[in-house]
Amino acid sequence: MTRKLFVTTALPYANAPFHVGHMMEYIQADIWVRFQRMMGAEVHFVCADDAHGAPIMIAAEKAGLSPQAFVAQIAAGRKQYLDGFHIGFDNWHSTDGPENHVLAQDIYLALRRQGLIAVRAIEQFYDPVKGMFLPDRYIKGECPKCGAKDQYGDSCEVCGAVYTPTELKNPYSTLTGATPVMKSSEHHFFQLSSQRCLDFLQDWTQTPGRLQGEVLNKIREWFATDDEGHVGLADWDISRDAPYFGIRIPDTEDKYFYVWLDAPVGYLASLKNYCDKRGLDYEALMKDPALEQVHFIGKDITYFHTLFWPAMLHFSGRKTPDKVFVHGFITVNGGEKMSKSRGTGISPLKYLELGMNAEWLRYYIAAKLNAKVEDIDFNPDDFVARVNSDLVGKYINIASRAAGFLSKRFAGRLSADIGVEGRTLLDGLRAHRAEVERLYEEREYGKALREIMLLADRVNEYVDQHKPWELAKQAGQDAVLHDVCTVCIEAFRVLTIYLKPVLPALAAQVEGFLKVAPMAFADASRALGAHTIGEYKHLMQRVDPALLDKLFEPPKVELPPPGGEAIAAEIKVDDFAKIDLRIAKILACEAVEGSDKLLRLTLDVGEGKTRNVFSGIKSAYQPEDLVGKFTVMVANLAPRKMKFGVSEGMVLAASHADEKANPGLYVLEPWPGATPGLRVR
Ligand code: MSP
Ligand code: ZN
Repeated sequence: MTRKLFVTTALPYANAPFHVGHMMEYIQADIWVRFQRMMGAEVHFVCADDAHGAPIMIAAEKAGLSPQAFVAQIAAGRKQYLDGFHIGFDNWHSTDGPENHVLAQDIYLALRRQGLIAVRAIEQFYDPVKGMFLPDRYIKGECPKCGAKDQYGDSCEVCGAVYTPTELKNPYSTLTGATPVMKSSEHHFFQLSSQRCLDFLQDWTQTPGRLQGEVLNKIREWFATDDEGHVGLADWDISRDAPYFGIRIPDTEDKYFYVWLDAPVGYLASLKNYCDKRGLDYEALMKDPALEQVHFIGKDITYFHTLFWPAMLHFSGRKTPDKVFVHGFITVNGGEKMSKSRGTGISPLKYLELGMNAEWLRYYIAAKLNAKVEDIDFNPDDFVARVNSDLVGKYINIASRAAGFLSKRFAGRLSADIGVEGRTLLDGLRAHRAEVERLYEEREYGKALREIMLLADRVNEYVDQHKPWELAKQAGQDAVLHDVCTVCIEAFRVLTIYLKPVLPALAAQVEGFLKVAPMAFADASRALGAHTIGEYKHLMQRVDPALLDKLFEPPKVELPPPGGEAIAAEIKVDDFAKIDLRIAKILACEAVEGSDKLLRLTLDVGEGKTRNVFSGIKSAYQPEDLVGKFTVMVANLAPRKMKFGVSEGMVLAASHADEKANPGLYVLEPWPGATPGLRVR
């Protein structure tokens, strides 16, 4: 019976281009999908942009665009990555598409009919200037423990204290600077704390074969008894107040689904959109008990996919996922994990622009992947070694060593009867087919590739033993040369089939060269026989290690703006050390009578006495705005007698060379935590 699969990857937030972490997830899923198709399965492989939520709404506003226009801009950039890395999604949609609005509302209404939606008022910070409830990430203030300024609402970066936003001292909205006020509003909750949900989820998660062992262990922790003796999950707040970029909650005027409610529904919406475009029956497909629903995701979003999402589906009378495949993170150069906000160590687009072969990366990532929730590291030396010595050195080489003789000496015709030794070698390769299939099915790609490379080693040993380049020079060895080269090409063909899920473009080239129809796994078990192949053209280059240096080169430093300053003459570190820079606290500040440029600052530099400094920053600052702030001063500058008094140092500020044409003056301020007298070095 044909296997039927509905496969997705996580829907990326539509506020940034792809990074290598996204590409890793897509490559993992794409390999699995291509493998399934080569096994004869019917696969529907879809994704979409995750368009909703406060961060995207705010980013759009900053960019001066409507949220719809903002996400459309990001969506327009997707194709070059997906095509570039041969990711074969059948459909790419958006969670803001009409299908998602309908489906999310349907699911909500079904949950409500089930009595699983509760409405209750909660108090939250509200920005009275913006007229908006503030997600935690937009609230800052002073740490309740150490008093450090500008700390986020969850924890202090200076002393490490953990707290809630309401505990911050002097909280402010990072959107407007306004002091937030507590305001009450009604929220809708999905009652995951109910016994019904708990029973269902315990049963669903424990079903054998559905989740990885490590994922199950995590889930057991999440189900664990809390401090109050309550077993299970808390209710899930699924609503947000206007203004919000999202899907309206039915029967409300100003409430929207929290982005994580409608995001996974986007899987279904994208499938529906695809079915409608292809003339397929979406409802019938989803009702088909044979359809397996499979989600590929990263470890950071396990909670949503193994608890909230199956519960939403089950209690709205829908089919639940059959498998959730969780992967770890890719790091670069042993570095920290690439965060969503801080970007990545390598840019997938730069990789392509440098002319690097997408299949090198597919091969390298596949070689590192297994079925566990483990992080993998992109290491440039390792990358070069695996591609050059394994992929090109072991596999591609087989074809290049044999193909020339076949076309030159035998008009491309393969030998119909290759003899016992050749047959034994080929049978040996074919005998591993079931094992290779099993490893792909289980997402043990690293093991699969190791196995395939061991088979390539066998073929290379055969070539080394029979030395076709010597046979070609000997008289009367034509038949042997013909057989040996035929065995090489047959072996190369079997290995290409085994590698095809990872190297689809290369496999297509090979199919052209061999003059065969698109190959499936079953084709590995039969021989081509008396068949004529085409002209061999070089299939894949080695990686030039210099390309990796280029890939890791930081982007070029921007030239100074027109009218800006060139960088000053080089100095030695000793020259720099002569300048004693110190953190100073501005204790007092006042205008200087008779000067339109100067402010008089009273500074604490940690010396047990204060310093008097005149600074030409009046055009940019009100004296009262500077009091209490920290800055950086030159502490060993010779005192200078001025018209208004003696200046005992200099405060640092940034400005343009041509201050008249480019006004703007910015006093330096250290990051929170610095104290008076600390030396800047
Ligand atoms: N929008 C949500 C997912 C909604 S799914 C209904 C989201 N988006 S994301 O853009 O932040 O992440 C998309 C996927 O990329 C997630 O599966 C995430 O785990 C994965 N990765 C993000 N960084 C990654 C790495 N550095 N390495 C591997 N995968 C990583 O979360
Ligand atoms: Zn603190």
